[in-house]
Amino acid sequence: MIIYKSEEEIQGIKRSNQIVATILSELKPMIKAGVKTRELDEYAETRAKEMDAIPAFKGYRGYPSSLCTSINEEIVHGIPSSRRLKEGDILSLDFGAIFEGFYGDAAVTYPVGAISPKAQDLIDTVEGAFYKGLKQIEEGKRLSDISHAIQGYVESRGFSVIRSFVGHGIGLSLHEEPQLPNFGLPGRGPKIKKGLVLAMEPMIAMGDWKVEILTDNWTAVTQDRSLSAHYEHTVAVTQNGTKILSLLNEEKESLSYLKENTYA
Ligand code: MF3
Ligand code: CO
Repeated sequence: MIIYKSEEEIQGIKRSNQIVATILSELKPMIKAGVKTRELDEYAETRAKEMDAIPAFKGYRGYPSSLCTSINEEIVHGIPSSRRLKEGDILSLDFGAIFEGFYGDAAVTYPVGAISPKAQDLIDTVEGAFYKGLKQIEEGKRLSDISHAIQGYVESRGFSVIRSFVGHGIGLSLHEEPQLPNFGLPGRGPKIKKGLVLAMEPMIAMGDWKVEILTDNWTAVTQDRSLSAHYEHTVAVTQNGTKILSLLNEEKESLSYLKENTYA
């Protein structure tokens, strides 16, 4: 069952997502060669607590940390550790928070120092895919119109879409219905309507989309060990249109994707 949210509930979900967005943006300048992913996790957890929020992932189905740190061929759910970042890596950070009972969830892929043009293209493509999907969110369209737009864009740029992980409804818990695949035929699934709140999270790979789970039982990597990138925002269909709840004001201004639209 999809839980459609009131405008008040959407405001609550936004507050939680603004905490997530603040933490992800504060982590950005910390991403440098030599930094241990565990240090990023500790920072995220401390900042969440300072803002009276609870990290949403820690303890979720036994996940051991507050932040997910997925490096290079790691797609998602990488566990922070004493591993140090090195120049040329790409790092996905995924963070979730609970504030006053509402959930926020967002992810971004950052470069570590100078990266290859192809790796930068992968990062740009996963962000672009999110915005292609976002454009499909209009009352009357169906859920899989989002999936189809994401897949079309990613494949047109020569990359592949990860199949085993999906976006999801969010708000009163971390994972609610509906599931939102990042591939598929258009025109399927529930109609998009006011009150729908989704965590849209394309994950893509440079090579094949097949996935392997490492022996820690969490870290998902590409089977062919090609680079992977992830980008996620929580978005809501409100009475004033579609809004990205996990974007900060200063980020909105710098994003060319948002220039012709009013999603923020
Ligand atoms: N954004 C991811 C998701 O929605 C992160 C979940 S991490 C977990 O699945 F530990 F909570 F599973
Ligand atoms: Co998510």
